[in-house]
Amino acid sequence: MTVLVTGGAGFIGANFLFYWLKAHPGDRVVCVDRLTYAGNLSTLAAVLGRPGFRFIRADICCREGMERLFREERPDVVVNFAAESHVDRSIDGPEVFLQTNVMGTAALLDACRKYETPRFHQVSTDEVYGDLPLERPDLRFTEETPLQASSPYSASKAAADLLVLAYCRTYGLPATVSRCSNNYGPFQFPEKLIPLMIANALQDKPLPVYGTGRNVRDWLYVEDHCRAIDVILQRGRPGEVYNIGGNHEMENIALVRRICQELGKPESLIAYVADRKGHDLRYAIDSGKLQQELGWQPETSFEEGIRRTVRWYLENRSWWEEIVSGEYRDYYQKMYGDRQALS
Ligand code: NAD
Ligand code: DAU
Repeated sequence: MTVLVTGGAGFIGANFLFYWLKAHPGDRVVCVDRLTYAGNLSTLAAVLGRPGFRFIRADICCREGMERLFREERPDVVVNFAAESHVDRSIDGPEVFLQTNVMGTAALLDACRKYETPRFHQVSTDEVYGDLPLERPDLRFTEETPLQASSPYSASKAAADLLVLAYCRTYGLPATVSRCSNNYGPFQFPEKLIPLMIANALQDKPLPVYGTGRNVRDWLYVEDHCRAIDVILQRGRPGEVYNIGGNHEMENIALVRRICQELGKPESLIAYVADRKGHDLRYAIDSGKLQQELGWQPETSFEEGIRRTVRWYLENRSWWEEIVSGEYRDYYQKMYGDRQALS
């Protein structure tokens, strides 16, 4: 079987293709990635040049390029991870989010139609449901929760989800969608909360917590996400949406304190800064459908996952140090330079 993984030089896509090559050693894995600021070829060092693996640098928005690729490879499965994925960047500049997340997904769907690809899977996010109030811990997102995206990022992901489901209904394209909560683990770009806090703490830099720090996210270890997608590809029903959650809700401030503790760094590094515009309060996923219908559940406890993640960043300093010394410096200055510390 040939599996086409888009966005495979990014955080989850890379973890997924490592997972797939291990779990399905007879399969061919083709990775297509444009190598934006978030894509890193060094992430794929362990598999580049290996038989059964091919890397192609291309933009999923390029219809000609995608057609050529589909003609050559005739993938049996396409898993679409490629996206602009960072909420703060989408607030700063939405356009590229619409391009890649909506138009790029559309280009892939049309290639799948033309080459009659047996299965398309869209990797989506719990952010398409908007947020939940902090004072209602009983509420969680189910697959029936209406879409109510808050940021340009989540709106672009919601648009892509609708397009995938429309292609499924109108053209009979065999497609599934999964909506996952916050992932963490190795190879996550240090613009996201956990790796940013680890990298800053290791450099004794301030740890910028937005607003009150009381916002809640539901954390899932990346390997558990990869396994969930595998289960959906094996046994999920085309036309269906599956929520994937970590069952581990945490306030941001508690998470940042936990990272300080794990690294032996003082909490005095924590600096409250101006809030994110439109900041979602709480995400909480009900993954009952995936658990009951397909028998998946998260296997990595948060304690184990955060320890492994911190260890990985300690043991792979060159991976993230190279990133934070490049273009990232300008990004950091732009995003955090003017953000006043709140008392
Ligand atoms: P990431 O930003 O780390 O990686 C995205 C990858 O896509 C990069 O390698 C980038 O180069 C590539 N890419 C971007 N635009 C492209 C284009 N036009 N053509 C080809 N490649 C392109 O993102 P991630 O955190 O690994 O997220 C992967 C997917 O999972 C995204 O679709 C995201 O919406 C979704 N998701 C992420 C999380 C999370 O917590 N990180 C949770 C739920 C869903
Ligand atoms: O829920 C799934 C989503 O999780 C994915 O769809 C997105 O691709 C992914 O980026 C992530 O979105 P979040 O906005 O939740 O993740 P982020 O790591 O940017 O922020 C997590 C929380 O931490 C959020 O409440 C904002 C806060 N935060 C973040 C950063 C980067 C801070 O307080 N300080 C920071 O410097």
